[in-house]
Amino acid sequence: MMGRWGDVFGLGFGIEAWAFFLEAVFIAVYLYGWRRLKPWTHFWLGVPLPLAALMGAFGIIGANAWMNTPQGFTLDAAGRPVNVSVQQAVFTPMFGPQYWHFVVAMYLTAGYVVAGIYAVGWLRGRRDRYHKLGFCVPFTIAAVLTPLQFFLGDDIARQIFHKQPVKFAAAEIVWDTGTHVPEYLFGRLQPDGTVKGGLKISDLNSILAGFSRDTQVTGLTSVPAADRPTTAEATLAHWTFDIMAMIGSALILLALWYGWCWLRRRDLPRSRWFFRCAALAGAASVVTVECGWITTEVGRQPWIVYRNMRVSDAVTPTSAAALWTMFGIVVVVYVLVFGAFMGVVLRMSRRWQRADLGLVRPAADGPETDTPYGPRPELPAARAADAPSPQGPDASAPGSMR
Ligand code: HEM
Repeated sequence: MMGRWGDVFGLGFGIEAWAFFLEAVFIAVYLYGWRRLKPWTHFWLGVPLPLAALMGAFGIIGANAWMNTPQGFTLDAAGRPVNVSVQQAVFTPMFGPQYWHFVVAMYLTAGYVVAGIYAVGWLRGRRDRYHKLGFCVPFTIAAVLTPLQFFLGDDIARQIFHKQPVKFAAAEIVWDTGTHVPEYLFGRLQPDGTVKGGLKISDLNSILAGFSRDTQVTGLTSVPAADRPTTAEATLAHWTFDIMAMIGSALILLALWYGWCWLRRRDLPRSRWFFRCAALAGAASVVTVECGWITTEVGRQPWIVYRNMRVSDAVTPTSAAALWTMFGIVVVVYVLVFGAFMGVVLRMSRRWQRADLGLVRPAADGPETDTPYGPRPELPAARAADAPSPQGPDASAPGSMR
């Protein structure tokens, strides 16, 4: 794939790698500068981090959107791409919709995951200002982005209806082209084009695609069987699409619950069920992101570059032999990195818990003892003149965050 198309769409991977290293550098500066830099210097050195992440997303979505709607080249007599226009190859028809849907997905997921951790703390009785801020800041960002994501999701679905009609047919399990097409919630597409199970809602697919029952929706049979996803692949793309839309809708209800309580009482919801749902929202967002990618990739089958290269032609016979070995190495490396990460995080959390219960003095180098932006401890009036240091609460006071 890269041998044939690398010159056309490889730029995105270059940008992504560059952004990745920038992120690594700025994360290191942020973590190691925690106590070594002045708070404002530390803060401003954190600002390029999300920008580098946006740049990484630009590269990777540029490459993926090109695979969905390839352009910016012509083919010579031997079928090789020539006359490459980098600008056209980066800004493909699917780039905008995919980029914004993905960026919002990432910020939203990060928000719900971080808030979810504090929601668990809240359920376990940690109701101090530190935990409240830890919950409110990420949850508010995620809650504001959720309805926006709903509109972006609706838009991206309509974009694939116009620009990748066979993928749309797979995601909505539409067999024959026609009008008055029903919407199926779940259900399994059969080899004869019928749908088993699921909930059928008459005409809704046509209405969602073009705001009218008379909107014509292209079916899977509009292309030969060899050029479209199999019925099993279409069913998978359909289920992941439905799960994504379902979880997206459930997250909106959660965001509304939060917004309603905040507007009425300027406070968090009191129900434990709210915090249980908030704790689940992080995991649910991660599942939704995976579902999004499965819809994108499985819905495009059998093409790796839509209408230009099949997945089966994407590797040369020599690299095909090494494919499973490479895949095995990648899996092992990721398991080790993830295992090490979880080990460090769990150790940090255990140290926190023991300090929290007063069983041990918080370690002088523990992150919980000197958060530059954390709430200041409440000082008795007599000590108020003794202003706290800009580095945060007194490191020697056990449990000072509570
Ligand atoms: C609520 C309604 C939603 C709808 C209708 C929707 C629709 C879609 C569609 C049609 C695609 C395939 C795009 C393509 O193949 O070009 C997609 C991809 C994706 N979706 Fe959603 N989505 C929704 C919510 C969400 C939410 C809440 C998240 C994450 C928390 C999410 C994350 C993703 C991701 C990561 C992708 C793959 C990358 C991309 O194409 O941008 N989606 N979505």
